[in-house]
Amino acid sequence: ETLTQEIKSIVPANAEELEAYRIRFLGTKGLVRDVFGGMKDVPAEQKKEAGQLLNAFKQLAEAHYESFSHLQQGNAGNASFADFSLPGADIALGTRHPLRIVENKIVEIFERLGFAVAEGPEIEDDWHNFTSLNMPEDHTARDMQDTFYVAQNPDWLLRTHTSSVQARVLEEGKLPVRVICPGRVYRNETISARAHCFFHQCEGLYIDENVSFADLKQTLYAFVTEMFGPDIRVRFRPSYFPFTEPSAEMDISCTVCGGSGCSLCKHTGWVEILGCGMVHPDLLRNFNIDPEKYSGFAFGMGVERITQIRYQVNDLRLYSQNDVRFLRQFTTNT
Ligand code: PHE
Repeated sequence: ETLTQEIKSIVPANAEELEAYRIRFLGTKGLVRDVFGGMKDVPAEQKKEAGQLLNAFKQLAEAHYESFSHLQQGNAGNASFADFSLPGADIALGTRHPLRIVENKIVEIFERLGFAVAEGPEIEDDWHNFTSLNMPEDHTARDMQDTFYVAQNPDWLLRTHTSSVQARVLEEGKLPVRVICPGRVYRNETISARAHCFFHQCEGLYIDENVSFADLKQTLYAFVTEMFGPDIRVRFRPSYFPFTEPSAEMDISCTVCGGSGCSLCKHTGWVEILGCGMVHPDLLRNFNIDPEKYSGFAFGMGVERITQIRYQVNDLRLYSQNDVRFLRQFTTNT
C-alpha cells in the first residue's frame, strides 16, 4: 500500500529522473522483483490473493512508467503528445531547369505552327548521324563535330547533333513531314564557360510539296517573335552545311542592348541563334524521296544559346553543376 502511494507521488521531470524510477521499481534488482520474491514466504491459502495484489502493483508500476515515456531520450515526438491539428510542414516544390523551361517553350511554339515532336537515340550509328546526311567518312565537315565513339563498336557514337533525328524520321517513309526534335547531343570539347562535352539542340524539319526558302524564313521569324517579342529583327547569313543547300545562319537583333553593342553580341548588335537551309536533294534521294516532287527546310538551334540570350547566363558550366542557388532563380515555366 505504501509503495503504491509512493509510486503515485513520483513525477519524473526528465529522462534521468524517469530512468532512476525505472531502476528503483522495474529494474532487475528493483522493488517489483523484490516483492514478488516475497511470495515464497506467503502461506499457500493466501497465495492467490497475494498474487493478485502483486500483479496489480506491478501493473501500476509499469503503467506509471509508460505514462512518462515521452521523457525518454530520443522519444521527444511521442505520438501521445503530437498535435494533429497543426498544419503540415511545407513540401518544397523544385523548380524546372532553365534548359527545360526554354526547350518546353521552343517546342510549344513549333507545335502551334503544326510541328510534331520526334525523338531519337543519343547513341547513334554512323549512318544516321553522318553518312545519310551527306557526310561520308572522309568528309571534312566531320571535323567541325569532334565525336565520341563507343568503344564496343566502331560504328556507334554519341550523336553530335539532333540532325540524326531527321534521318530517323525520313527513313519511316511517311510524307509530308513536319517535326521538331529536342534532345541532348555530345561533342568532344574541353569544358569551359563557352563549350561543354554535352549540350542540347532543337532540330526542325519540314518536307512537303512546294516548300520554299520563303517558308523557312517566315517560320523562323514567327518563332523568334514568339520567343523574344514582336520587336525582334532577324538577318540571314550564307553558310554551309552538307545536308542543306542553300544553307544559312540566322541572327537576331541583340535582346540585351537592342543593337547598340554589349558583351552578348560582342558589340555587333546581332546574336547568332541557329543554322538552317533547304534540305539537300541528295539527302532526299538517300531516303528514296523524289526531289523533283518534294522539297523542304531544316534548322537546328542550341538550347543553351537561346537560354543564354533569354536569361543572360554567361557560363555553360552552370547548367550542369546542380547548384541550387543558380537553379532556384528559374521559377516560371513560360
Ligand atoms: N546540325 C547543325 C549543327 O549542329 C545545325 C543544322 C540543322 C543546320 C539543320 C542546318 C539544318 O550545327
